[in-house]
Amino acid sequence: MNRSFQLLIAIVSVVLACGSALAANAATESKGPPPMRQIPGLTAPDQFARGCVDCHVAMPDQKMDVRLSTLMRQWQDKVDPALLERVRVFTPPEITLKGKHPKFTVAGAEVPKACMTCHSRTSRIAPPLGRMLHGLHLVGGEKNHFLSLFQGECTHCHKLDAATGNWSLKSGAEPK
Ligand code: HEC
Ligand code: HEC
Ligand code: HEC
Repeated sequence: MNRSFQLLIAIVSVVLACGSALAANAATESKGPPPMRQIPGLTAPDQFARGCVDCHVAMPDQKMDVRLSTLMRQWQDKVDPALLERVRVFTPPEITLKGKHPKFTVAGAEVPKACMTCHSRTSRIAPPLGRMLHGLHLVGGEKNHFLSLFQGECTHCHKLDAATGNWSLKSGAEPK
């Protein structure tokens, strides 16, 4: 290859590179910034104002019942091995899970406050609730239905007090 031919190739590639960079720039500029994110309770309506119990409901038309009271009755009988395996990962090593939940009546109890009596941050008998629930709801990508169907929003469980800036947990009771 002679030198002037090499030079020509070099010039042509620089021109092409500039051209495509400009085109890409124009494309993003014409779109502008992305639309404001729709965050439940902050920039969008909140469909689950009472947190857990507004989302964990019975859906007879889909033949599904994911109420915490229903799940709790199953755990008291036997925890599904797949769930137990997942929960183990989010449990401090000094707590050994047996795969059977102690007796507790969910209906009528203020949730998740009532869970905290045993599942506190410093509990030595049960997995701390925050760590366990963050793991169960926010890990697993699109295989996790909380991420794929409910957008993984923090504000489905947490609530911002716009007047004080305080961040708290939503709460509510299942009907008895
Ligand atoms: C907006 C809906 C929504 C809210 C609010 C919510 N969850 Fe869930 N939860 C889900 C979904 C969806 C799953 C299934 C995740 C998956 O695909 O593994 C789930 C899974 C769970 C599981 C595991 C159940 C199992 O059998 O695998 C527990 C326990 C649980 N949630 C408890 C809670 C508690 C307690 C709260 C309140 C602090 C809460 N959830 C708030 C939607 C919700
Ligand atoms: C009386 C104490 C107590 C209360 C109240 C309680 N838990 Fe538990 N929970 C435990 C203990 C102890 C374990 C560990 C059970 C084991 O060894 O498998 C546990 C384990 C779990 C597990 C893992 C599955 C299992 O059984 O091992 C889930 C999920 C769970 N609890 C959810 C809840 C939720 C949601 C609430 C509130 C609605 C709640 N718990 C209230 C004591 C309690
Ligand atoms: C399924 C319900 C749920 C979702 C979704 C959720 N949290 Fe939590 N979060 C909890 C619970 C329950 C606690 C425990 C509160 C306690 O121990 O006092 C907690 C505690 C916390 C804490 C205090 C530190 C700790 O671990 O105890 C922080 C920070 C936090 N969450 C941030 C987030 C962020 C950020 C997101 C979204 C990416 C999120 N949470 C989503 C339920 C949830």
